[in-house]
Amino acid sequence: MRLKGSNVTLKTICGLINFLIFTFAVATSVNAQPLPLIYSGNLDGELEPCGCTEEGNLGGINRRVSLLDKLRADNPQLVAISGGGLISAEGSTDRIKAKYILKGFADLHYDAIGVQWKDLSYGADFIVQNPLPWVVSNWKHDGVAAEKTLSRSIGEKIVKIKVFSWLDPDYSPMRQMHGDHSVVVDNVEHVNTAIAQADSQGFVTVLLTSLPLEAVKERFDLKMVDVLLVRASYEVFGEPKSEGKTLVLQPGSRGMRIARLDLNIDAKGDIKDWTHKIIGLPSSVADSPRMASWYKAYNDEVKQDYLQRVAIRKQLDSGASTFAGEEVCKTCHAAEHKKWFDSQHAIAYEDLEGVNKAFDPACIVCHTVGFGEPGGFVDMSLTPHLLNVQCENCHGAAKEHAESKGVKPVSNHDWPKEKICAQCHVQKHSPSFSFEQYWPKIAH
Ligand code: HEC
Ligand code: HEC
Ligand code: HEC
Ligand code: HEC
Repeated sequence: MRLKGSNVTLKTICGLINFLIFTFAVATSVNAQPLPLIYSGNLDGELEPCGCTEEGNLGGINRRVSLLDKLRADNPQLVAISGGGLISAEGSTDRIKAKYILKGFADLHYDAIGVQWKDLSYGADFIVQNPLPWVVSNWKHDGVAAEKTLSRSIGEKIVKIKVFSWLDPDYSPMRQMHGDHSVVVDNVEHVNTAIAQADSQGFVTVLLTSLPLEAVKERFDLKMVDVLLVRASYEVFGEPKSEGKTLVLQPGSRGMRIARLDLNIDAKGDIKDWTHKIIGLPSSVADSPRMASWYKAYNDEVKQDYLQRVAIRKQLDSGASTFAGEEVCKTCHAAEHKKWFDSQHAIAYEDLEGVNKAFDPACIVCHTVGFGEPGGFVDMSLTPHLLNVQCENCHGAAKEHAESKGVKPVSNHDWPKEKICAQCHVQKHSPSFSFEQYWPKIAH
């Protein structure tokens, strides 16, 4: 939208007034020492983001360690916070990357890290196995704090900071599942109260969330929040802006940059003024020598994984697997196949994707064929013929049966029907299961 001339003039005047106020504020507090705060968010699974340009990598954990080490050497009172969203689960090798991102983050010595839904893609245990300062104020889980209390001595003063983080239940990818699978509770009031209390006790209050600003305003009383970190929407950091007394920060994604604020804080823990600087991580920032073994281990594991995949592919190509896949069964059992194809079993993996759990072994095991068994499902790219709940989940591996044109029986030929279903239709995952009601829906 184009601004009218008069608006522009108004804007300019406002800008000028702001500038004067700001300059004045800086001038009056010029002797006060600021609190240095580093913030980032939404690394989005980029251990070292490739720009595919001449400059090569455009950032990454290794360089960030060098940079933070240097900044901390200059000022040990430095505070570092992240809005979370560190890992990603979109490709087969993302899990290895995620493991090393978490290890690497431990070496960055952040003070508080929020949790986003994508951080839970491999299950909660995956992220808490590293001693990172995770914070979620609306979730009780070992290894995840409800709030983080920090204190720094700045000049003569002690600055106290409390970091809160909100994992929004409405954005849970699992909300469409029946049964209560949500890990968090919707207790905005409780968190608001905790923030208000910290604010009245003179803490600098920080709220981390991956919500957009409008959604935060609907839920939270921003009067109590000094620093708010909202959703990163792009690689570039947003300009910080003031909403009432709150300083709103929007980090840039993919770990290409970090940003530094120098905050002047009054005795009540309110922010008086600030300066902001975005710091790039180009190749002139050297890798950290103390990360050498981490980086080597990561590359070794990626290579190992690649070789293992090649081996699996060879094994599959040589026909060593005992599983055939539904397409093969279809050739002789067209009627049974039709019936299966129209059932929920045939979309069991898609449903996992729908809840962002297509890479969590704890889920895959019941939603694919033979996961964890020799020749069974590995991932979408290596074993696309074993996606979803198929014939061989129930009848057992049946390649020999198919190759023998039905002469050799399928592996589970002597299993009672109930036993077949009980592999997966257990109380926890299928509370309303009864064989009499379920079998007619898939009978063939
Ligand atoms: C080349 C044809 C052919 C293919 C391919 C084939 N079958 Fe069969 N299947 C048969 C024949 C023939 C019978 C009947 C055997 C009988 O009645 O004794 C049979 C019977 C069965 C039975 C019932 C008898 C038993 O062994 O329990 C099941 C279950 C079965 N097939 C599953 C499968 C599955 C699963 C696949 C795919 C992995 C498959 N079949 C692929 C030909 C085939
Ligand atoms: C022990 C086997 C098993 C495991 C493990 C399992 N599931 Fe399921 N899942 C089932 C069964 C059985 C159903 C069908 C439930 C029904 O309709 O009675 C189901 C249904 C679903 C559905 C679709 C139906 C719905 O609830 O709306 C989703 C989505 C799903 N599971 C996700 C997951 C996720 C995510 C995990 C891992 C956290 C997981 N499952 C782990 C067996 C399992
Ligand atoms: C959810 C489990 C399940 C799935 C998936 C499933 N079946 Fe079955 N199937 C059964 C059960 C249970 C029976 C009944 C066995 C009995 O009557 O004792 C059966 C029976 C059969 C029979 C024998 C039919 C007869 O008249 O005796 C064939 C053939 C068969 N299935 C083939 C298939 C094929 C091919 C697929 C995949 C396209 C498939 N099944 C998928 C559970 C399953
Ligand atoms: C390998 C695991 C597995 C086995 C074995 C299995 N199921 Fe399922 N079943 C699932 C999963 C997963 C779903 C949910 C699929 C989805 O909606 O994503 C499901 C869904 C269903 C549904 C659809 C539920 C609905 O509300 O529409 C029926 C019916 C069903 N199963 C019946 C059976 C019966 C009967 C057996 C035994 C003969 C059986 N299943 C064996 C995993 C399994």
